[in-house]
Amino acid sequence: MTTTTETQTQPKFGTTADIPIPRGTTQATLTFYAPPADGSAPWNYVETPPEGSPQRNYGESPHEVSIHDIRGRERDFDINTNGFGVIQGVRSEEKDFTDDAHIQQVYYPEVEKTLLDNVPGAQRVFLFDHTVRRSDPGAKRAPVTRAHIDQTTKSATARVHHHMRAEAPELLKHRVRLINVWRPLNGPVVASPLAFADSRSVPDSDIVGVEHRYPDRTGETAGVKFTERGVWHYWSGMGDEERILLQCYDSRDGARTPHTAFVDSRTLPGWPGRESIEVRALVFG
Ligand code: OGA
Ligand code: FE
Repeated sequence: MTTTTETQTQPKFGTTADIPIPRGTTQATLTFYAPPADGSAPWNYVETPPEGSPQRNYGESPHEVSIHDIRGRERDFDINTNGFGVIQGVRSEEKDFTDDAHIQQVYYPEVEKTLLDNVPGAQRVFLFDHTVRRSDPGAKRAPVTRAHIDQTTKSATARVHHHMRAEAPELLKHRVRLINVWRPLNGPVVASPLAFADSRSVPDSDIVGVEHRYPDRTGETAGVKFTERGVWHYWSGMGDEERILLQCYDSRDGARTPHTAFVDSRTLPGWPGRESIEVRALVFG
């Protein structure tokens, strides 16, 4: 396991150094949640749906919004108030991000440290999942272009039971947070950036639990309705040593950030598609 592929030195698209990174406030159309027309409870299948069934039973509602660049204002935001926070200058020994076992062995401990060092009050971290996204057509997982939050109170609580087993009842008496640690793999990001909303700008009444049907179990995520009050941000030209902490649940103070990738109209043909990894964490304390 000592082979490394130097994809960086064989640019498929010309080097990103030549690309003028789009910066500043931009407008983009984001896809929001629209309820099922027949009034039934919303659901979606994570994988291929059963024969004859659609992927999901709810609709979508596109709206153009302003998306503000937090570059240069990083210190104005914190995870407890805004639902997201950013970190810079994080080194990683994981380079390839092609082998899940290697990611768990090398990258997970780094992410655990990042969370313990940067989330006030964090005492214990359990990483339970990660997703590598690549934009090319053959990729298993691509950027997500629907405003959502990964968990609800119900699914966050279920996660604690699922992963922490006998310890869950005691852990659930104290503060539990669910935080995704997101980073690009081919920064600077110049296509499909991630947009995230200030938690305070999206009321609970615009967040709707959606049954999330895996082949072997059912979880719950949340769709996000459009609200005029929503304040959206992105972090222009995000680099590989930068991290966004996306909080999806906090049992104590409640901040949770709606998020979605967006098509940036400033991206030119031939620019590299975004590649990224998000690691999902239960954070205790
Ligand atoms: C996430 C997420 C979407 C994307 O990190 O939870 O929804 O396009 N990411 O990276
Ligand atoms: Fe998400």
